[in-house]
Amino acid sequence: MTQHGSSGSGSGSSSSGCSSRREFKDRISERSTINEKLMVAVRIRPLNVDETGPRALHAVNKKIVMLDDLESDKSKRSSPRQYFYDLVLGEDSSQESVYEGTSKSLVQDIINGYNATVFAYGATGAGKTHTMVGSSEEPGVMVRALNDIFLAARQLSDSVDVEVTMSYLEIYNENIRDLLSPSTGYLELRDESRGRNVQVTGLTEVSTNSTEEVMKLLHQGNKARTVEPTAANETSSRSHALLSVLVKQTTRSSARDIRRRARIKQGKLFMIDLAGSERAKQTKNQGKRLQEGAHINRSLLALGNCITALAGGARYVNYRDSKLTRLLKDALGGNCRTVMIAHVSPAAIHREESKNTLMYADRANRVTNKVEQNVLDVNYHVSQYRDMIGDLKNEISRLRNKMGNSERGRATDEEISSITRGSELRILREKIVSAFKEQMRLRRKLMELDSHLLGLNIAAEQQHAIISHWESRNNKLYKVTKDSAQRRSSTDSQVDEIETEGDDKI
Ligand SMILES: Nc1ncnc2c1ncn2[C@@H]1O[C@H](COP(=O)(O)OP(=O)(O)OP(=O)(O)O)[C@@H](O)[C@H]1O
Ligand SMILES: [Mg+2]
Repeated sequence: MTQHGSSGSGSGSSSSGCSSRREFKDRISERSTINEKLMVAVRIRPLNVDETGPRALHAVNKKIVMLDDLESDKSKRSSPRQYFYDLVLGEDSSQESVYEGTSKSLVQDIINGYNATVFAYGATGAGKTHTMVGSSEEPGVMVRALNDIFLAARQLSDSVDVEVTMSYLEIYNENIRDLLSPSTGYLELRDESRGRNVQVTGLTEVSTNSTEEVMKLLHQGNKARTVEPTAANETSSRSHALLSVLVKQTTRSSARDIRRRARIKQGKLFMIDLAGSERAKQTKNQGKRLQEGAHINRSLLALGNCITALAGGARYVNYRDSKLTRLLKDALGGNCRTVMIAHVSPAAIHREESKNTLMYADRANRVTNKVEQNVLDVNYHVSQYRDMIGDLKNEISRLRNKMGNSERGRATDEEISSITRGSELRILREKIVSAFKEQMRLRRKLMELDSHLLGLNIAAEQQHAIISHWESRNNKLYKVTKDSAQRRSSTDSQVDEIETEGDDKI
């Protein structure tokens, strides 16, 4: 078993009736695209133990349902109302006959590379889950289709590699839960290619070749689904459940084929058990149940609006009002064969709900889809890729040339700037050199001045030395004169004074 990340949206298909299915396949082999009407089947369930009153509708034959008038209306109308469908399955129809009449042929379509959807619609308690899921004694469409897919896959040639992948989700209160991994929490819906490809991010996709494994997973998913008792149904589905099965076949060319071609064919089957429309008065729901009912009704109303728009040939259809319609976009108005199984109770007490369902189904019967086979010839793609690679190579060489030119341009710019920078450097160097020379010249001058100053200092020192020498000699002379004068008589003193005065003048 392999588990993958995210999964794709639903897809489905329709038919103008089960009798014409073989004819359809022959035609489709001649053309790749064909317009096909959504197939509508109506299943009438047997009365349950609580429904003891009169019946309001019954199957006239395999195509017509008769809805009786109310007692009060009988005087106004001449005959009861008849509704025509592709297939009407009466109260006694078995699970097997329902599967064979509505969904069995879709398995072969999936193997042939088409997308298909089968969805169960109807009021609460009308028998949708019984048809789609069933019980271990009376398995429903989901189990039978999965079984048949594995049987058909086993019958394919040995040269074909088959991979079957399944995912199972529920939409509860407008939140998406992964039924194969319920603990993951709510998942996001992502629109790709402008809403043409709707993906559920992080949805578990299990790839397996074992029928037992798939059955186990389906059982596990059903157990994880939100089901609660209401006054209208002991086991009421409070969510829409969407089971998706993708069958991918890869056929490789023989070893002798040098082109190594591989053909990939893939078909997706979407099986949906919707929650039932409900009237609060009838279900006596309150609180949480009432809130769930409001969400269910809102999404079913959105589905009804899409069907009305598609049936009326509207150019614009609003799928965005609910997650259910976003996921069913392909099934309703895209590349998908789609089968709707509308469920009604025959009980007169449910006449209004049954009438609404019959009218809804009648509208759906007018919807037409464009169906095409999903076959990819890998060799064709290889040649496409080769062309693309060639184009890319041309683009690369064109860009390289452009880059070369611009680089050359850039080189010239750089050269210019380097020349400019070089001349600036030279000027700067010259300035530095002349500044240096000037500095040297000044320093030399300074040294000359220093030596001159030194010479002056030496001369000054010599002068000072001469003066000191003279002064000391003079002092000595003065002293000698004074001593001799003291020794001379007083008559000589006048002569000494005159001599001293004369020395001072000198
Ligand atoms: N064709 C049938 N034959 C026998 N029993 C049936 C048939 N259809 C429905 N029932 C029984 O009727 C009850 C209600 O059916 P079921 O749960 O399938 O209704 P539902 O349409 O899924 O309702 P809800 O919208 O509330 O989920 C169940 O007990 C189921 O077994
Ligand atoms: Mg149900």
